[in-house]
Amino acid sequence: MISDRESPHGQWSTSLVFVLAAAGSAVGLGNIWKFPYIAGEYGGGAFVLVYLFCIVMIGIPIMVAEITLGRRGRQSPVNSLRTLAQDEGRSQAWTIIGWMGLLTGFLILSFYSVVGGWSLAYVLYAALGAFSEADASDTAALFEALQESPWTLLAWHTLFMAIVFAIVARGVRRGLERALDFLMPLLFLLLIILVGYGLVSGNMAAAVSFMFRPDVSMLTGEAILVAMGHAFFTLSLGMGAIMVYGAYLPKRSSIGKTTLSIAGIDTLVAMLAGLAIFSIVFSLDISPAEGPGLLFVALPTAFGNMPGGTFFGFVFFALVSVAAVTSGISILEPVVAYAVEKSGWTRPVVAALVSLVIWTIGIGALLSFNLWEGFAPLGFLADVPRLWFLEPLTGLNIFDLLSWTTGQLLLPLGGILIALFAGWKLSQPSLREELPMSEDLFTAWLVAVRVVAPIAVLIVLLNGLGILRF
Ligand code: PHE
Ligand code: NA
Repeated sequence: MISDRESPHGQWSTSLVFVLAAAGSAVGLGNIWKFPYIAGEYGGGAFVLVYLFCIVMIGIPIMVAEITLGRRGRQSPVNSLRTLAQDEGRSQAWTIIGWMGLLTGFLILSFYSVVGGWSLAYVLYAALGAFSEADASDTAALFEALQESPWTLLAWHTLFMAIVFAIVARGVRRGLERALDFLMPLLFLLLIILVGYGLVSGNMAAAVSFMFRPDVSMLTGEAILVAMGHAFFTLSLGMGAIMVYGAYLPKRSSIGKTTLSIAGIDTLVAMLAGLAIFSIVFSLDISPAEGPGLLFVALPTAFGNMPGGTFFGFVFFALVSVAAVTSGISILEPVVAYAVEKSGWTRPVVAALVSLVIWTIGIGALLSFNLWEGFAPLGFLADVPRLWFLEPLTGLNIFDLLSWTTGQLLLPLGGILIALFAGWKLSQPSLREELPMSEDLFTAWLVAVRVVAPIAVLIVLLNGLGILRF
């Protein structure tokens, strides 16, 4: 059965454009902000090792599966799943993958936009010379001052959502293709400059040993779950973002090769960001377990004390903001693509409505750093004996709750379902048509998505949530 459906939303002009767009989705705050801070919190080496293992064993096979579903379905995830289930004579229940993804998109973007806002704020701070000659306590105070001001956070959150909205409203291709061509390489260059700075002026030896010398005693079930969840988050997997980009992938492009490039770029950026940040952390009075502020405390301290630091700081945070925006777009796109298909309304109208809802949830996220810091919306569940397994969620504020439920729950669950649907429910001829790779590679992939990845993810989920202890 040859599938020659065309996407109603347009197509990428080449495979390279797809790789850039998907890498634009993958590379974002997950790499530069979240990876270093969770690696720091969970003790470094062992966490990083588990994370890398998950990228290779789980992330890469599932990315192949997700792109395959997208390219065959050619629509928003919900409708792609519906069409594929129909084509292959499978139950319509599989569209749940698309629905869950829509929900996950709303939740992720609402807190992502808040952090994207921090990054935008830091573009301005850098331009104003706010870091110059700052020590770690000055930059920590600067970050704290931002967190304590709900109105300032709201302004930046609003700006971030407005930018993402404006691009998605114009359509992914028109809005996105041109910007990515030079911004991604520039981000790379800046990170390399920062690693260079860390080599010369920071403590790179300590950074390398922290990141790559595993201390197995740090490996709790929770740490493994966070590392695995982050593998999904950082590769944009499990919610349809990569699927919807796959829907715009030209028929002749190789899914296997593009996946390897995307995952490779994403991992490299995370490692460079980690090395840059930790080499600075270990040469200053900053704790690697500083938390969400790590990036915003460590790097400004370095910028404040290096020649040309104001300029580099400005360019760096501008690039982080761009990386965050290109990821934000890919989180919004599946929702908007579906709503356009469903309602027949124009893209700008749909994008505006959806953005408004996400912006509103984001207000809860940004208040978690000040007025609502101690407010745990699920706190009441702590007393419900039958829901004991939700215990890890009962102490979290809105921001942490959004981050936890998406990263540690919804993305891995979505990933399992994507793997199972692609692996077991698409017919062999359909799969072979999408994945014309060598027989051995194909078999290895099939085993990964049919068995290895779903079981591994399930075990880590159950264990990390304390439902089963292994
Ligand atoms: N991968 C993005 C990052 O690392 C975040 C993201 C998650 C994007 C899920 C799309 C979907 O910043
Ligand atoms: Na990423």
